[in-house]
Amino acid sequence: MKFTHKEAYINGQWITKNSTFGVTNPFDNSEIAQVADCDRNDAKIAIEAAHQAFQSWRKLTAGKRSKILKKWYQLQIENVEALAQLLTIEQGKPLAEARGEIKYGASFVEWFAEEARRLYGDVIPGHGSDKRITVIKQAIGVVGAITPWNFPNAMITRKVAPALAAGCTVVIKPSDLTPLSALALAELAEQAGFPPGVFNIITCKNPIDIGEELTTNPLVKKISFTGSTRVGKLLLKQSADQVKKVSLELGGNAPFIVFDDADIDAAVDGCMASKFRNAGQTCVCTNRIFVHEKIRKEFTDKLSAKIKTLKLGNGLEEGVVIGPMIHEKAIDKTEKLLEDAVSKGATIRLGGTKREGLFFQPTLVCDVHPTMRIFKEEIFGPVAAVYSFQTEAEVIQLANDTEFGLAAYFYGKDYAQIWRVSEALEYGMVGINTGMISTTVAPFGGIKESGFGREGSKYGMDDFVNIKYMCWGGVELG
Ligand code: SIN
Repeated sequence: MKFTHKEAYINGQWITKNSTFGVTNPFDNSEIAQVADCDRNDAKIAIEAAHQAFQSWRKLTAGKRSKILKKWYQLQIENVEALAQLLTIEQGKPLAEARGEIKYGASFVEWFAEEARRLYGDVIPGHGSDKRITVIKQAIGVVGAITPWNFPNAMITRKVAPALAAGCTVVIKPSDLTPLSALALAELAEQAGFPPGVFNIITCKNPIDIGEELTTNPLVKKISFTGSTRVGKLLLKQSADQVKKVSLELGGNAPFIVFDDADIDAAVDGCMASKFRNAGQTCVCTNRIFVHEKIRKEFTDKLSAKIKTLKLGNGLEEGVVIGPMIHEKAIDKTEKLLEDAVSKGATIRLGGTKREGLFFQPTLVCDVHPTMRIFKEEIFGPVAAVYSFQTEAEVIQLANDTEFGLAAYFYGKDYAQIWRVSEALEYGMVGINTGMISTTVAPFGGIKESGFGREGSKYGMDDFVNIKYMCWGGVELG
């Protein structure tokens, strides 16, 4: 199927706007679409429609909601190729990765279609002989979902599928850089049979007004955001006046630790997977690679050899594994981090420069240390920064020396050390002898300034429900 809509999707209608904004392909900066530029009033209308739709959507049986979600899932799977092509064109990631993202995104819909029917409550032994206690979970209401450009498909489904499964309705504000994948999901949602107002998409160039409407409109009961820590803090502040329920999946500064007993080849592979996915533009990408002094040379030699094989280019071309970065600012930031590191004594062993367009050469930088900006900031680019360490205590201290707490990784064989290190790392997710941790079935999320709330897994619906406890008195014993 060919996805054609460039309008916003509000209350089951495709809404054209006089004002539009351009979406470009980061590979060659060509314009691929002009998309409806919604304003605050459009957001208000969408929220009201979602509020109206909530009154009946929440009353459907879980089985009925589940059936529509399953249909939406099937349509996504039938259209993997078209969705992936669209994603690559607007975001730049290689087609194989884009296909992976579409399947990953769809898996949340399938999972929560199933979970819809398992939104169990509890019966708790009462605190008096005449008392009985029951607990139910109720859909929270209208959800505002604000989603990023780096995963234009999966970050929508990961939020929206549990919300819809629980009985909530949604107003989604996708990134202005990648709205087409969101509109394609809306096209499929329409075909799947979601009633008008249950699923709404507000596309816009300037997110500030829409973000403010979502966070301050009293009909919105929950905000779910994936993006930068700076914007997350702003949305949290804006939501505070109404004490709105919020979940935030923000930046990371993932350590990747290689102990001296690790399987070095496996660690190199894990590091490549975690570092260079989406050209380094994921929140869970490895940011600081800590290698035990004893194996540093072998590890960096092997890592360097692998990095050399990475092929840059148009994501639509066969064999390309590193696409363009999303915009000029991302390139500038990567360059500045490297400049700072080199000025303080780091050595660029491979890459280190930008190429034509929005490409940045996969880079290996060694002799890095904690005084450098690259230690403290999320790189969000294809740069592998290698530190060395000597003791477990030292590396734990270094790994935790950041305000972020999303993902961490380490490789080693000693099971006692594995437990100790896993427990000591101040992160929401820890990969042990693996660089790939993202899956539908596990709770994705961070601690510290990386945010709160969990997406995916059996915990993923918790953020979209209110827990209500009912105390039954006067229950006479027989
Ligand atoms: C992200 O970068 O925010 C999400 C990455 C993932 O789900 O693996």
